[in-house]
Amino acid sequence: MAMKRPRIEGFAIVSREGMIAGSDSSFPEALKIPADQAFYQASLDRASAVANGRHSAEGGPKEAARRRIILTRRVQRLIPDPNNPLAVLWNPATAPFEEAWQRLGVDDGMLAVVGGTDVFGLFLNIGYDAFFLSRAEASVPRGRPVFPGVGRDKTPEDVLKMHGLVLRNTRPLDAATNTMLEEWGPKG
Ligand SMILES: NC(=O)c1ccc[n+]([C@@H]2O[C@H](COP(=O)([O-])OP(=O)(O)OC[C@H]3O[C@@H](n4cnc5c(N)ncnc54)[C@H](OP(=O)(O)O)[C@@H]3O)[C@@H](O)[C@H]2O)c1
Repeated sequence: MAMKRPRIEGFAIVSREGMIAGSDSSFPEALKIPADQAFYQASLDRASAVANGRHSAEGGPKEAARRRIILTRRVQRLIPDPNNPLAVLWNPATAPFEEAWQRLGVDDGMLAVVGGTDVFGLFLNIGYDAFFLSRAEASVPRGRPVFPGVGRDKTPEDVLKMHGLVLRNTRPLDAATNTMLEEWGPKG
């Protein structure tokens, strides 16, 4: 029997240059936009679980209550997180995604992928059913890009298109800062 997989949705806010964090890997003040935070947390409330790299959990009062796949190269096989009964530690070099998902013990629903760079990149290949890209006007010229390769010779939309995603919808998220929310999805 084929292993089940969830619906997979990605969530990121980027600077005008496509950065999710500054050079010191901190989350830039300029990207802390209340309307985006509200959209993000409400979206995570729809999720059955979250996937994030070791430095990218979403924060907020509900973080500890969410089921979670934490990506790390520090483990050689899928194991329960000794520090969090709701999380598994997954090294994608040693086990396929479906196994990590199965280990979480969630039957179906949506997995919210919340970064950072390599995690957003990895799930481009696993396949997003939707990617929500909030675009802020603020400039963060250097740092951690939303996907590997962004900022050198590619924009976020170049990378999304290269992976078969198309722009489905754009709407204003916050008029004061001119932040737009783009929803990308698979072709067809
Ligand atoms: N603007 C946004 O939407 C947004 C979204 C997410 C994060 N951020 C910000 O971005 C910064 C962190 O970004 P980041 O890219 O450095 O963080 P990250 O992906 O959360 O953390 C990197 C760590 O995750 C693990 N990891 C990532 N990819 C992996 C893979 N393919 N296989 C195995 N392990 C993997 C590794 O952990 P080990 O070291 O344990 O091996 C790696 O050191 C923070 O400031 C965060 O606030 C912003």
